[in-house]
Amino acid sequence: MLLPKAVLAVAALAISPASAIWPVPKSISTGNLTLSIDQTVAVTYNGEPVRISFLDYLMTPPCREYLAETRLSDQTQQLSYAKGYAPPSGANFKSKDIVQGGLERAFSAIFQQGLVPWMLRARGSDFDPNLDRAGRVSKLAITQTEKDTKETFRAVAGAVDESYSLTVSAEGEAAIEAASSIGVLRALETFTQLFYRHSNGQASYTQLAPVKIQDEPKFPYRGVHLDVARHWFEIEDIKRTIDGLSMNKLNVLHLHITDTQSWPLEIPALPKLAEKGAYAKGLTYSPDEIADLYEYAVHRGVQIIMEIDMPGHVGIEEAYPGLTVAYDKQPYQLYCAQPPCGAFKLNDTKVEDFLDTLFDDLLPRIAPYSAYFHTGGDEYKPTNSLLDPALETDDVAVLQPMLQRFLSHAHDKIVDHGLLPMVWEEMVLEWNATVPKDTIVQTWLGEAAVGELAAAGHKVIDSNNAFYYLDCGRGQWLDFDNGNVWQALYPFNDWCSPTKSWRLIYSHEPTDNVPEEAQKNVLGGELPVWTETIDTTSLDSLVWPRAGAAAEVWWSGRTDAQGKNRTLLSARPRLGEQRERMLQRGIRGTPITQLWCEMNDVSRCQHDE
Ligand SMILES: *[C@@H]1O[C@H](CO)[C@@H](O)[C@H](O)[C@H]1NC(C)=O
Ligand SMILES: *[C@@H]1O[C@H](CO)[C@@H](O)[C@H](O)[C@H]1NC(C)=O
Ligand SMILES: *[C@@H]1O[C@H](CO)[C@@H](O)[C@H](O)[C@H]1NC(C)=O
Ligand SMILES: *[C@@H]1O[C@H](CO)[C@@H](O)[C@H](O)[C@H]1NC(C)=O
Repeated sequence: MLLPKAVLAVAALAISPASAIWPVPKSISTGNLTLSIDQTVAVTYNGEPVRISFLDYLMTPPCREYLAETRLSDQTQQLSYAKGYAPPSGANFKSKDIVQGGLERAFSAIFQQGLVPWMLRARGSDFDPNLDRAGRVSKLAITQTEKDTKETFRAVAGAVDESYSLTVSAEGEAAIEAASSIGVLRALETFTQLFYRHSNGQASYTQLAPVKIQDEPKFPYRGVHLDVARHWFEIEDIKRTIDGLSMNKLNVLHLHITDTQSWPLEIPALPKLAEKGAYAKGLTYSPDEIADLYEYAVHRGVQIIMEIDMPGHVGIEEAYPGLTVAYDKQPYQLYCAQPPCGAFKLNDTKVEDFLDTLFDDLLPRIAPYSAYFHTGGDEYKPTNSLLDPALETDDVAVLQPMLQRFLSHAHDKIVDHGLLPMVWEEMVLEWNATVPKDTIVQTWLGEAAVGELAAAGHKVIDSNNAFYYLDCGRGQWLDFDNGNVWQALYPFNDWCSPTKSWRLIYSHEPTDNVPEEAQKNVLGGELPVWTETIDTTSLDSLVWPRAGAAAEVWWSGRTDAQGKNRTLLSARPRLGEQRERMLQRGIRGTPITQLWCEMNDVSRCQHDE
């Protein structure tokens, strides 16, 4: 049986490169013509010529010199110029600027950060095409068929049309059509993936012309959740994560911005929060930095959704004493899931006043950029109120109406500021809180919760810990003395072990086991990155390319046009290539197979029984 397989592998290698678009478009057809592309490509947006500063830059001597140096081993080239382009700042977004930014990044990705695909080709093979007689991509005409509105840039899930079409003719005429500027951004990411860089460093080419793509997402909400409270992250780390999201057509960054461990968010009306709550002076996010971050995301078709977790997970006792209970109480297991505990008092008007001050300061600053604000609500235990001198009870029959009042107060305020609330599932499923049907409920405890909430008519996000928790499977971070606990917990796996490999993530779809008629309420998914043991040193490698695996399922669905599940054999070479492209653009994801397997046909690394 060896022979047919070997023959097959050779045959596969002989064909032109796979159309490695990630996530795979809804419909795609490609040819085998080679076209080069250079800085003379004429770009228009709705018929008007667009001047692209990056293309001008390509003509300058330092850039020509830079491009002439080929550094095959240097897989991460910094985005010095792409980052240099700055769109006008402010919340008054113009479609033209959004598209311009997308074009600057796309051409920088093609010309400056282009991928020489040596690692995707057989060792020693002569993979560079001869471009002497190749045609050239001479124009890129972008047409936006509908007008963006203010709501395009702070959209409720599903409200923005992200669909697009992309064609490249055999003669080298490229065209993008999309209803929104966000659709144009999605198309431009696809466009960049058509091209490789020549080993001589002087040229870029596609071998897939003519190209015809029609594309749109399956799920409207596709996100990554980043905890910046267990560890603090530089704005650059967060921006780089946003870059990665947009490269994978993901559209939400959920920032879990406060917790009992730290409060890095500066609130001018409540200055002690960050003064006392930051891990160190300077490890904070100022109002200007927050605005800049939200804008940065909007320009990449990503919405930031900020979460201030409550009533549990609150560590403000040192800043504003008297509003919370259980801060740093032991044994912590009685009151919370991890040290230090801390929770707002229920049924306390001072807490409501505090929340009003907090929200009146914060929400007007973020409402121009986002449709949602997340109030957390996970892992809140009734035992907290045993420590509240005004309550001294853990009777849920007594506490439930108080919890409802707390939540309704917070959510009314959020709605007053023009935002929609989002909560973790426990508020509804455990605390029986009533929330309006436009409140998004985020699940993490499994498929049953998704199904139950969706069937009850809630809008649901799937963050199933069995598939989507990217921090899992790397062992305990708590310490224990020698003895029974040590023995019991040996070999120190964490609670959600094992690691969720991209292959596992790729097997799961948010609507799995959700009754058919309720599936429309499942908006999509979000991959939590809880950061007890993650900081800037490991962020990229833990998130990428695994978040890309979910991105393809959420954008393209798990099944292909024939209704069959896409196989790992079809996904792995493309996700591997996506990682290589992301490396070129400064995002250091981890390998998903050995280099030898990347260089050879996927059938040669297939695991047979
Ligand atoms: C390219 O595609 C055309 C049309 O499908 C086919 O006839 C031709 O053999 C292909 N050329 C190569 C080199 O694969
Ligand atoms: C809740 O607070 C109100 C005042 O806002 C008070 O009248 C009431 O007694 C409190 N309930 C309990 C159980 O303490
Ligand atoms: C929520 O409702 C369930 C089922 O009726 C009940 O068992 C549970 O105690 C309630 N939880 C709270 C916090 O009221
Ligand atoms: C696709 O994969 C899922 C999850 O592994 C499985 O439950 C489902 O039956 C598969 N569907 C098809 C059509 O093979």
